[in-house]
Amino acid sequence: MKPEILVLGGVWSQEVRDQVQQAFQCHFAPSIPVAGDAAFEAIAGGVRAVLTTGTVGVTPALIASLPALEIVAVHGVGVDAVPLALLADKNIHVTNTPDVLTDDVADFAVTLLLSTARRLPQLDRYVRDGQWPAKAPLTQARSLKGKVAGIVGFGRIGQAVAGRLQGFGIEVRYFQRSAGPAPEKRCASLLALAEESDYLVLCMPGGADTRHMIDAQVLEALGPQGTLVNIARGSVVDEAALVAALRDGRLGAAGLDVFDDEPNVPAALFGLDNVVLTPHVGSFTVEARRAMGRLAVANLVAHFSGEPLPTPVV
Ligand code: 8YV
Repeated sequence: MKPEILVLGGVWSQEVRDQVQQAFQCHFAPSIPVAGDAAFEAIAGGVRAVLTTGTVGVTPALIASLPALEIVAVHGVGVDAVPLALLADKNIHVTNTPDVLTDDVADFAVTLLLSTARRLPQLDRYVRDGQWPAKAPLTQARSLKGKVAGIVGFGRIGQAVAGRLQGFGIEVRYFQRSAGPAPEKRCASLLALAEESDYLVLCMPGGADTRHMIDAQVLEALGPQGTLVNIARGSVVDEAALVAALRDGRLGAAGLDVFDDEPNVPAALFGLDNVVLTPHVGSFTVEARRAMGRLAVANLVAHFSGEPLPTPVV
């Protein structure tokens, strides 16, 4: 008998579907089943593993409804949507997919920074809307060379972003609560980093510890010439404060790939000319998603074969 697994979320490629279906008896659900879902209740007792995405995760209620659960495999590096302490208490393993997405996410952070700095979507709209022949006024961008990028969260992705930005002649500093590499680049506080930075690039994990870390005061410190770039989690930013700062010109610009209540984006952002918005696509490349899928499935296969887990979350 193949182990029964619950596969949550709507991002699965045919390759991942084929792999999981070959190894497991799969129950697919686009989102976390709600209480009283009769079809789910009929299968819940036999489910031994959940394969989920970084944003869907699992809830305490779902965990409580799966008495045979042994492992949660997250397709993504972020595990903020997974109650780690609760799962540890129940001796349920958790795995994620680090490293295989680092380069593509870092590339995207830089893409978003450049697009925001050089106003790429605005220029594209200018051409498409026929404003060029009409000689409509056009806002000049600012050069990157010599500017300062403050990276919040200097882990694998933050460091990969830093390496890329240095190639543009941007000076890199960072802040994270714990000590990190290159101590001479580390700022004593987030506020000090925001004050020194032209670009603040958010690469920290989500979750309770970092919720609304980027608040009105940090945005104020970044200032009217400053740009916020967020490829981390929407929850790390006080979105209401962000919208107000952008609208009032107290913050220069923002490039945002993640939002607090995805896929819902604050409508107030749509009318602003100083923002670039993308739909949480940092790791959305053929190569990264293929590698993430393979690694997530490899963790499940290892678990049920009694092998060491390739990438456990500790
Ligand atoms: C994905 C992510 O959007 O890795 C993460 O933490 O947020 C993303 O790569 C998501 O997990 C896809 O399943």
